[in-house]
Amino acid sequence: MAKILICGAGGFIGGHLASKFILDDKIKLICADIKPLENWFQNFEGSSNYSLDLKDYDNALKVTQGVDYIFNFACNMGGMGFIENNKAECMLSVLVNTNLLRAAIINKCKKFFFSSSACVYNSLKQNETFVKGLREEDAYPADPEDGYGWEKLFSERMCRHFSEDFGLETRVVRYHNIYGPIGTFDGGREKAPAALCRKIILAKKNKEKIIDVWGDGEQTRSFLYIDDCIKGTLDVFESNKQDVFNIGSEEQVSINEMIQIIEEIADYKVKKNYQLDKPKGVRGRSSDNSYVEKKIGWKPDFTLREGLEKTYLWIEQQIHSGSNIEKFCKGNIEKITE
Ligand code: GDD
Repeated sequence: MAKILICGAGGFIGGHLASKFILDDKIKLICADIKPLENWFQNFEGSSNYSLDLKDYDNALKVTQGVDYIFNFACNMGGMGFIENNKAECMLSVLVNTNLLRAAIINKCKKFFFSSSACVYNSLKQNETFVKGLREEDAYPADPEDGYGWEKLFSERMCRHFSEDFGLETRVVRYHNIYGPIGTFDGGREKAPAALCRKIILAKKNKEKIIDVWGDGEQTRSFLYIDDCIKGTLDVFESNKQDVFNIGSEEQVSINEMIQIIEEIADYKVKKNYQLDKPKGVRGRSSDNSYVEKKIGWKPDFTLREGLEKTYLWIEQQIHSGSNIEKFCKGNIEKITE
């Protein structure tokens, strides 16, 4: 039986991965997260669940004992509203990855997965609205997103050197704006797809005609649906390629275009109040998947519209039922921007 540890299992991607592993009776699953158990987005009786802070090395040592495979999603993160205003908090996540790597060596773990981000890419390559998809080599020369991106790039680098120096097998992926059901949609950490679904759902519910949009709406991104993300994660993890890969979509849209898709799903049209002083991040970003497709054979299945339909429906259910609002909308941060 393989013993698998998911760090950050109480969060969005970690929770979805746990929901896959829990169905496999050849896996003994261990889940860890800093949040109290009742706030985990998903938790399962069939796994051993720990609420602890992995910035503490003793906790990292304890939870990795006897573990074969480690997936590290644990970090302090969110959408632009969070990472632009909490740079030090974001950088402190370096302690989690450092402790886990050290503990993985002591406890002789077989393989280590690190969830990096498109925020590692050089900002000069993201200055236009429509940009060429970012290739893995575009992270260097280094000029990543301040705070959060530097932490991710440093931790990627540490994975590489732990493999070279200590023989630990590592896998690293760069996620490009992952979205979908069972994720944050309010409170300050939400990303654009969930935030804009929420705003349109509320406008429709309250018969309002106008929503706030950060920036001028012409900035672009590509967004990856959670099911595609989980499939890509497992494909990279199971492969024998010790490397760094994009896990993203190549469907580049402007924020205005995404709003139009959401309006069509909602069957409700809104006017946009552009807030130019809100966090905007890079001007344009998209993924180039040629390397991951060639080496791993992974590519996404869901279109943005298909993914947004599922996400919209789930957020609408949460808002209308009101039952899980606290769990998925708790910013739990001091300096939120909205
Ligand atoms: N969050 C949010 N909320 N963004 C909005 C909103 C809104 O109501 N309205 C417009 N936007 C715009 C932002 O200004 C930004 O230009 C764009 O939508 C995307 O914002 P986010 O989804 O918050 O973040 P991001 O794509 O810049 O970065 C996210 O993805 C990275 C990976 O690709 C973050 O989650 C990073 O942490 C992550 O690494």
